[in-house]
Amino acid sequence: MTASTPLQDRKKITTHTLQEKKNQSQPITMLTAYDYGTALAIDRAGIDIILVGDSLGMVVLGYTTTLPVTMDDMIHHSKAVARGSSYAMLIGDMPFMSYQASVDDAVRNAGRFLQEAGMDAVKLEGGRERLDAIQAILSAGIPVMGHLGLTPQSVHKFGGFRAQGKDAQAARNLLEDALALQQAGCFSIVLETIPARLAKLVSERLEIPTIGIGAGVGCDGQVLVTHDLCGMFDRFTPRFVKKYADFHAEMAHAFEAYKSDVENLAFPEKAHSLEMPEAEWEALLESIE
Ligand code: KIV
Repeated sequence: MTASTPLQDRKKITTHTLQEKKNQSQPITMLTAYDYGTALAIDRAGIDIILVGDSLGMVVLGYTTTLPVTMDDMIHHSKAVARGSSYAMLIGDMPFMSYQASVDDAVRNAGRFLQEAGMDAVKLEGGRERLDAIQAILSAGIPVMGHLGLTPQSVHKFGGFRAQGKDAQAARNLLEDALALQQAGCFSIVLETIPARLAKLVSERLEIPTIGIGAGVGCDGQVLVTHDLCGMFDRFTPRFVKKYADFHAEMAHAFEAYKSDVENLAFPEKAHSLEMPEAEWEALLESIE
């Protein structure tokens, strides 16, 4: 599906579409969104998957990690994204402590994404230590995307946002985690910030599609945080990001131009103003004289 495919010919993307794409070696596209307008633009561009990522916490809410993000934050933003999207598969990212404490929490919170927010699936971070939660969510009929490698909710365990899977033992663990997630029934796995050849090996060993971020070209698809791609997040840009635009600079120019126009009475012009009929104006003046 491309941006040039007429809207009416598009079909809603499902887990089956994604598996078909992997089987036919067609790269899968995925981006994050947190609001209606961005979801609309991403959907119209023909992107396969929209992830309402808990990166929300960093790029929209201004936290330094994703840890403070709550289920209510995620549901609020997921609802807006669902209103803007018709074709992309919608995935709600389960935030920190929404699935780690108990399997019951995991199922109830995953259910909220589908029932309240109109998502099609959920994503959660972790490998074999999360199998109970993943199996329970799947038993409730909710598709699950896994997430391995640099899993940002474990930032303190990793001692920072550091690349993972760099030695043979860690790489082997990651491969075993990926196979276990596939065996449990995940429909896809995000591989974040791991060596490119490890990501390629994992992608070749798995039947389900992998989606890479900072994991090289050997994955079955790619995801970026939309604010990074558009140059909207000013604090830092990870090395693996390709900036396709510089919206932050564009916004700064627009705001400066607006400030200058207002201060110099150059805005609003006649075209931006409305008037009342002459007779009504005269009547008003007479009535207040
Ligand atoms: O929260 C997020 O945006 C993510 C992507 C980086 C995969 O998990």
